[in-house]
Amino acid sequence: MIENNAYGQTTPSEDIELTHVEQGSPMGEVLRRFWQPVALSEELTDLPKKVKILCEELVLFRTKQGKVGCVLPHCSHRGTSLEWGRIEENGIRCCYHGWLYQPDGKCVEMPCEPSGVCERMNVHQPAYPTTEYGGLVFVYMGPAGTEPLLPMYDIIDTRGRDDVVLKGMKLWEGQGIGYVQDCNWLQNHENAVDPWHLLILHQMISGDQFTSGLMHGGKPTIEFIDTPLGVAYEFRRELLNKNRVIRSLEAILPNVILVPNLHEPGDAAKYQEKCTECTWTVPVDNEHLTAFSIVAWPLENGQPKKGWKPGTDTRTALRPGSTTNPLSYEQRQRRPDDREAQEGQRPIAVHALEKLATSDRGIVMLRRKLREQIKAVKDNKDPSNVVRDPDLNRAIPTRSWNTILVPKEAGVTAEA
Ligand code: FES
Ligand SMILES: [Fe+2]
Repeated sequence: MIENNAYGQTTPSEDIELTHVEQGSPMGEVLRRFWQPVALSEELTDLPKKVKILCEELVLFRTKQGKVGCVLPHCSHRGTSLEWGRIEENGIRCCYHGWLYQPDGKCVEMPCEPSGVCERMNVHQPAYPTTEYGGLVFVYMGPAGTEPLLPMYDIIDTRGRDDVVLKGMKLWEGQGIGYVQDCNWLQNHENAVDPWHLLILHQMISGDQFTSGLMHGGKPTIEFIDTPLGVAYEFRRELLNKNRVIRSLEAILPNVILVPNLHEPGDAAKYQEKCTECTWTVPVDNEHLTAFSIVAWPLENGQPKKGWKPGTDTRTALRPGSTTNPLSYEQRQRRPDDREAQEGQRPIAVHALEKLATSDRGIVMLRRKLREQIKAVKDNKDPSNVVRDPDLNRAIPTRSWNTILVPKEAGVTAEA
């Protein structure tokens, strides 16, 4: 308990079980049972890339032969960071005395040593397994040898499809500067199942930030749904143009969100138009997060469709980088956004002080299901959504879409 103010009130500690992500922490161990994205494939060029995820610093590299490695930064010899290393044909060479490490961490050359020493010493730089899919580099930081499959959710499983190409993106990044938000990952993740804030923060307070037809109309009804993968909501309302929208959004345990098109104009009938990107909320450490997405980009004449934009590419692209926010304090006060709202909850929200109400049902459901995952890991079981059977890893059905009903169709499905 920390002394808080002149009235002698105290601030309880944050909910460590759900929020902390370091090695050995309950949620950190859940997140380590899943492949986590750490970089765009295109970011691994002829230089190593240092990243931080789940409170651990890592050095990523792509050998000249194209293999991706992920090692702990400090060289096993005398600790120089491998971020200064040189990428070679089959590994990364430490800049200091030239020890050469393969992507799996095995040291295969010690140029300052007599022959035979490298073999005898048999050094392994600690390394995590990596995989690449959809333009993203993923790392598995769970116990050695327990890597599951990368879940093939329907929107990113392109087997048998020729209408999209997958692109790895940092959707909220802007151009070239890594997007980092200065608060705990869960504040960002659970925001996905907080649809009521769309009507207040993004409409009433800041204007229609999503340039969408969906933000104006009659009073919506919102239902929260316990799904096989996590938690979803359905948002239904009559729009100003008398069409009706049914919008379903799903948060997949533990840290994936599927946001259907935020720019939907709501002017033409459509049935369950699927969201086009799969986004991971990635904890950097306990007080910072970033995000990576695989975007199913539509093809036109065999080429990525020009002028098309991912559905979650919001104007928050104006705010790249945690320390390079180009907006003034006054601008942020006049037009607060997700970032202000989420960071404003404290670096790590204090759940014990919250007064949860009926509109927070999605948050409550999500937290409860995350605790079930924590319990599974404590019981030495796979948490839900770990996939190991390739036959079950095909177009896993998800629940994020927009449906627009025009009046005559609305009559047919009046109960919707
Ligand atoms: S510190 Fe890396 S080779 Fe010496
Ligand atoms: Fe938002």
